[in-house]
Amino acid sequence: MGKASILYRNPYLYLLGLKLLHRENFHKRYKYMASFSKRGNSVLEPACGPGALASYLSKGVRYSGFDMNNHFINHALKKNLNVKIGNVLDINSYIRSDHIITCDILHHLNPTDRKKFIKNCYVSTKKTFIVCEPIINHKNKKNKIITYLGKQFTEWIERDGTNNVKLEYFFNHKELSDLIDDGFGIIPSSVKRVKKRFGEDMVVVFFKN
Ligand SMILES: C[S@@+](CC[C@H](N)C(=O)[O-])C[C@H]1O[C@@H](n2cnc3c(N)ncnc32)[C@H](O)[C@@H]1O
Repeated sequence: MGKASILYRNPYLYLLGLKLLHRENFHKRYKYMASFSKRGNSVLEPACGPGALASYLSKGVRYSGFDMNNHFINHALKKNLNVKIGNVLDINSYIRSDHIITCDILHHLNPTDRKKFIKNCYVSTKKTFIVCEPIINHKNKKNKIITYLGKQFTEWIERDGTNNVKLEYFFNHKELSDLIDDGFGIIPSSVKRVKKRFGEDMVVVFFKN
């Protein structure tokens, strides 16, 4: 694992940071994503981080997850979550599940790896594939100094220990919306999809079945 930022070395700081950033939308987005799974269903969260999603699932839903970050995985294991070290780009890390839920991972990946990730998720789900992504308007900013500092800060704080995240990897509203409409180049147009905004996040649910 490469050098991760303080947020990605400390699950408590990471969760606090997320809560401060998203405020009431922190709960709303996880609640919404969790609402599609019912008692007896299985949920897999690739790039699960410390496993925050798990506590929003209904009783009787089986949660599992994997991530490259051993600080996060150890934290989740201490909470008795069914998680392991795994790579979203490696199909062997996936277990076929009723629902695949991914939150805040796409912008961490090199754009050349996105399709592989989407394909791995889509082939591994039986019912729904859910993607939650932040929306940032990082282009066309008038103040060059603020733009520059914002880029330096974002890239410094987003060092997850696996990827070299660039500000350009984030999507603006149109880019993400277009990618969703195009099924990220993987999901057929016949598959029903529903988009929903939660503050600065967009969640899309693909209904495979
Ligand atoms: C912003 S966090 C999101 C974590 C979690 N989904 C959540 O909602 O809190 C992004 C996560 O992606 C993980 N990650 C990045 N690249 C990965 C990869 N190739 N395979 C597995 N996990 C990866 C990082 O370790 C980090 O935990």
